[in-house]
Amino acid sequence: MTLSHADLDALFAQRHSCRAFRPDPVPRATIENIIATARRVPSWCNAQPWQVTLTSGDETDRFRVALRAEAESTAPNPDMEWPKRYTGIYQDRRRACGFQLYDAVGIEKGDRAGSARQMMRNFDLFDAPHCAIISSPADLGPYGAMDCGGFVTAFTLAAQAQGVASIAQAAVASYGPFLHRYFGIPEDRLILCAISFGRADPDNPANAFRTDRADLAEIVDWRGEA
Ligand SMILES: Cc1cc2nc3c(=O)[nH]c(=O)nc-3n(C[C@H](O)[C@H](O)[C@H](O)COP(=O)(O)O)c2cc1C
Repeated sequence: MTLSHADLDALFAQRHSCRAFRPDPVPRATIENIIATARRVPSWCNAQPWQVTLTSGDETDRFRVALRAEAESTAPNPDMEWPKRYTGIYQDRRRACGFQLYDAVGIEKGDRAGSARQMMRNFDLFDAPHCAIISSPADLGPYGAMDCGGFVTAFTLAAQAQGVASIAQAAVASYGPFLHRYFGIPEDRLILCAISFGRADPDNPANAFRTDRADLAEIVDWRGEA
């Protein structure tokens, strides 16, 4: 069977970060299919550094309650350093997608309480029925994290192919010490991000916008004739 680029492009175009989920669980076999596909991504030396700590059912509900309590009472302390700053076009793009979200959910510019409330929804896992915590061996450093980034992307796309919506969440990894304690994740692993996933709530305004992408001319420095 030959897969067309058009099919793949359509899959990529359909995927978006979901910020409101329905409670329906995803069957175990579907989750296994998603992970079995995602693990095909390349990694340096084929080390496959990703480990997935995956919650379902009551475990997800217990986790979201504990995470929310942690976020409301503790300063962020991620295992992996946050970006130092966003400047220039990176700051512009960051702002643009933030404003798209706020517009969609009716938060006015300057409404700090409203934007803080929306941000805290991260710690409810946007009501998703499942959460995958992604970790990488600390010894593999940034390249381990890079390999895991590929895995995270592939997970979201394989999920989309199964009609499962998802969102990568660095926000969840803000509480590194708590996550290590809560899940018993060894200290020699870096907790990189979470992926919350489930069925999208299509009527929720948080899911009503789509982000833009830069033109090729902005991202490719062509050398030679192609
Ligand atoms: C590694 C990573 C971490 C992210 N962390 C968060 C997060 O903590 N909260 C959030 O709402 N979105 C988060 N996102 C989603 C991005 O905001 C989103 O991918 C980006 O705006 C592009 O939109 P799209 O995914 O809908 O195409 C994250 C995405 C990635 C890849």
